[in-house]
Amino acid sequence: MNKEFLHSISHELKSPLNSILTLSKVLLMQADSRLTSEEKEYLQIVERNGQKLLALINDLIEVFEIDSGIQLSVTDVALASVLHNVCERYEGAMRKKGLQLHMHCDDDIVLKTDEARLYQIFENLIDNAIKFTEEGSITISAYKKEGKCVVTIADTGIGIRSEYCDTLFTGFTKASGSLSSKYPGTGLGLTIVSKLVALLGGSIEVESQLGKGSIFTVRLPLQKEITMPQQQRKTILVIDDDPDSIVVVKALLSKLYYIVETHSGQEGLALAGDIQPACILLDLSLPDLHGLQVVKQLKDNPQTRHIPVIIVSASSLKHERGAIIASGCDDFIQKPFAVEEFVLKVQKWVRQ
Ligand SMILES: Nc1ncnc2c1ncn2[C@@H]1O[C@H](COP(=O)(O)OP(=O)(O)OP(=O)(O)O)[C@@H](O)[C@H]1O
Ligand SMILES: [Mg+2]
Repeated sequence: MNKEFLHSISHELKSPLNSILTLSKVLLMQADSRLTSEEKEYLQIVERNGQKLLALINDLIEVFEIDSGIQLSVTDVALASVLHNVCERYEGAMRKKGLQLHMHCDDDIVLKTDEARLYQIFENLIDNAIKFTEEGSITISAYKKEGKCVVTIADTGIGIRSEYCDTLFTGFTKASGSLSSKYPGTGLGLTIVSKLVALLGGSIEVESQLGKGSIFTVRLPLQKEITMPQQQRKTILVIDDDPDSIVVVKALLSKLYYIVETHSGQEGLALAGDIQPACILLDLSLPDLHGLQVVKQLKDNPQTRHIPVIIVSASSLKHERGAIIASGCDDFIQKPFAVEEFVLKVQKWVRQ
């Protein structure tokens, strides 16, 4: 999913939710003088579910963002200080539940990694350890082994049924069954953790015994450079009503780019704004709009003006040349075309 599209979804979802939450809070503050106790209770439910929805939107956006390739900021990070800071943050929550904290981290562990992502990983794991433990302790150890850094987070909590252990890292798994209403959360925390651990070049696993506790083990590379996320393949939008032409374009370009296709000019205009392709390949004779009208609308719209448009048409360009140049398109390719020339032309415009 395109980043700008993701940010607009996030904005479109959060703005109305923000109004719901803010106005619910205002009403709740005035509740004692204005509402019956039953009405106040309903409003509290609205507010609570609004908060749940907000957490879910934030987590989903995070998952999509990681999947679409986040930029890592790699520095030398002292692991002991990260773990101490995270534990300090959760000290109050542990004290409230009467949980003991044991921590041992070798002092000399320095990772070449993204510090903010490392914090996110351990915050999620320690948050879970506290949430799912009613009594006993949480034990964190970190040491070097076989060229890796190993961090274990063990708790004496409710444990996880073995059949859930494999699916915990793949989203929306709530293994607490009938107790799940007691333990709020979106069920996406561990999915985010496992994606981040993979991004940092590591691995994560869990061992657990129902009723006894769980141990989460994270292994991270010490020296190894982080494998940066693969450069995302760029998207090309093809607006063409001839299925055979689309087959040809896909055969030539789908190894290099994601191809999004549509047969209609109107749909092409909407898609261009939404997915922000790196380039548009446009046929002139479309069922609903003439290709040149599509170019005009793309170039008149500030949201799509910057996207290179290449007209690919079998109609005689000689006759339409003037109109094509005037339309504001960036390039044109006459069908039938030479394969190499076609691919080079597309690559040139995608790079710009
Ligand atoms: N330390 C733990 N002890 C017992 N169960 C756990 C532990 N950590 C995770 N789980 C189980 O795995 C499920 C998924 O954890 P995850 O962190 O992904 O979601 P969550 O904590 O329910 O919600 P959130 O998205 O707010 O983190 C939890 O709902 C819980 O059932
Ligand atoms: Mg969690």
